[in-house]
Amino acid sequence: MNAPLIDPFARTIRYLRVSVTDRCDFRCVYCMSEHMTFLPKADLLTLEELDRLCSAFVRLGVQKLRITGGEPLVRKGILTFLRAMSRHLGSGALHELTLTTNGSQLGRFAQDLAECGVRRVNVSLDTLDPAKFAAITRWGRLDQVLDGITAARDAGLRVKINAVALKGVNEDELFPLVEWCGREGHDLTFIEVMPMGDLGNEGRLEQYWPLSDLRARLAAQYRINDLDERTGGPARYVRLEETGQKIGFITPMTHNFCESCNRVRLTCTGELYMCLGQEDVADLRAPLRGGVDDAPLEAAIRAAIARKPKGHDFDYSRQRVAGRMTRHMSHTGG
Ligand code: GTP
Ligand code: 5AD
Ligand code: SF4
Repeated sequence: MNAPLIDPFARTIRYLRVSVTDRCDFRCVYCMSEHMTFLPKADLLTLEELDRLCSAFVRLGVQKLRITGGEPLVRKGILTFLRAMSRHLGSGALHELTLTTNGSQLGRFAQDLAECGVRRVNVSLDTLDPAKFAAITRWGRLDQVLDGITAARDAGLRVKINAVALKGVNEDELFPLVEWCGREGHDLTFIEVMPMGDLGNEGRLEQYWPLSDLRARLAAQYRINDLDERTGGPARYVRLEETGQKIGFITPMTHNFCESCNRVRLTCTGELYMCLGQEDVADLRAPLRGGVDDAPLEAAIRAAIARKPKGHDFDYSRQRVAGRMTRHMSHTGG
């Protein structure tokens, strides 16, 4: 048996987020700039290389694999990769194989995803208003995403909606979003906007809507019960007594959840980020391409985990943005 991956703060790493492409068919304002330069295709790990890397992590104790991007479903051959990963579900080593997607391609892929052993997907959706949706995503069409979500549900996948809380943008949609998710049977998680990528002059500050405030507004309308339940991600969940539905809060800004961090992030070029909010990165492509022996690769993974930092330093206090990352979110997949 391989010893599990344990970092310097005694956190066991069980969750790997894998960005399979930096490309996306949308250009969400808080994630990408309008004119992105993407990596040359030759720099990407092949599907076989991704398989070998992810399988090494599974051998080292990773139980939850989340495929992200960019938009993971625009990566060519993604189903081949997911089918390959499903063998680790079959062996019992992997407990969950899942995706975070913008939903645009779910109409095409939902059924196949279910057949690969995917049980639930997280879909990013910040608004139910077509004009606002177009403004936030720049290139997206709301109806296509809604159709994708329906296809996912019809294929038997559980859907969790991820909504970035944006002051002055979707503030007025708090109750409509909650009610829609309640009607459709989707879980819903709100996320505080993080200072990543191009921030312009004011940065993210003017759009920052603390979830402490969002929660207080919810509490004025619903009775809220805190749940102990965890999905292995950073969200903390509550149940609305009146409707029974589950609402999650991801609060990188108001409540730092780094102390219980169990995850690392692999980019599509084989870089390993030990923290979303720090620059330090380990190159896994060199040991991967160095030969067919997995021992140097496993050693490089262990060495990287030994450098995992305590947490991120994001901070919007005192009317300025600190700890910001110039890296775009699409690089590490959130
Ligand atoms: P489940 O709990 O499995 O549903 O998923 P998740 O919340 O781990 O994944 P998802 O892809 O839905 O991520 C939602 C948001 O949480 C994204 O915006 C991520 O960037 C953010 N997030 C996840 N992990 C971290 C982390 O370690 N640090 C910070 N700052 N944000 C994170
Ligand atoms: N802050 C918070 N969440 C973000 N996402 C993308 N960029 C940001 C940001 N700057 C979210 C997407 C998606 C998830 C993977 O990350 O909406 O739900
Ligand atoms: Fe694409 Fe998701 Fe980034 Fe939007 S947030 S541009 S959908 S990767």
